[in-house]
Amino acid sequence: MDALQALHSRVSSPRLTGEVGNRELRNIFKAALRAPDHAQLRPWRFLVIKGDERNQLGELFARAELSVNPDHTPQMLAKTKAKPLRAPVILVGIAKVVEHKSVPEIEQVLSCGAALQSMLLAAHAQGVGAMWRTGGMAYNKIVHEGLGLQSNESIVGYLYLGQIDGRSKSIGPPDIDAYFQEWHG
Ligand SMILES: Cc1cc2nc3c(=O)[nH]c(=O)nc-3n(C[C@H](O)[C@H](O)[C@H](O)COP(=O)(O)O)c2cc1C
Repeated sequence: MDALQALHSRVSSPRLTGEVGNRELRNIFKAALRAPDHAQLRPWRFLVIKGDERNQLGELFARAELSVNPDHTPQMLAKTKAKPLRAPVILVGIAKVVEHKSVPEIEQVLSCGAALQSMLLAAHAQGVGAMWRTGGMAYNKIVHEGLGLQSNESIVGYLYLGQIDGRSKSIGPPDIDAYFQEWHG
């Protein structure tokens, strides 16, 4: 798939299955590392979670959920615990913000977001399904501690990766004029 075709056709895949090959994964990682990055701060790092570690992540999610909602029923907690099993591979995109005289925090977090978007595209270009997710589990202190985040770090997103289960949704033509207007001063 050429670059423009990938850019124009990317869609998220909520239902993921199978495995992701090592070659495909490495290509996805390489794409992240070419994200735009003011002053080359490398304001990001990524955790790769697969196999049984997804169950450990599920346990962590359940503990975190319980801390916020102590009244959650066992059924609700079981659903939370199963969330990481929705894909064979999960990448955790972590923004790592440092003090810098000309690069504010927002630029560093955006750079991490750009890295995640590049990975979505690299996955799509190789026929690998992907979905960017956040939700409460991205912003919970217990999850942050369990994943080893430092005080200057935050989760920008979880990328769920795998083989696409079912048909990808079809997308219509984009409404370019609704979002792009020439400025004439
Ligand atoms: C920062 C960010 C966080 C997101 N978090 C979630 C999420 O927690 N759950 C969800 O269903 N979609 C989430 N999405 C949206 C999906 O990744 C996806 O973009 C959306 O469903 C639209 O589908 P499309 O990418 O095929 O256009 C998030 C997107 C972004 C950019």
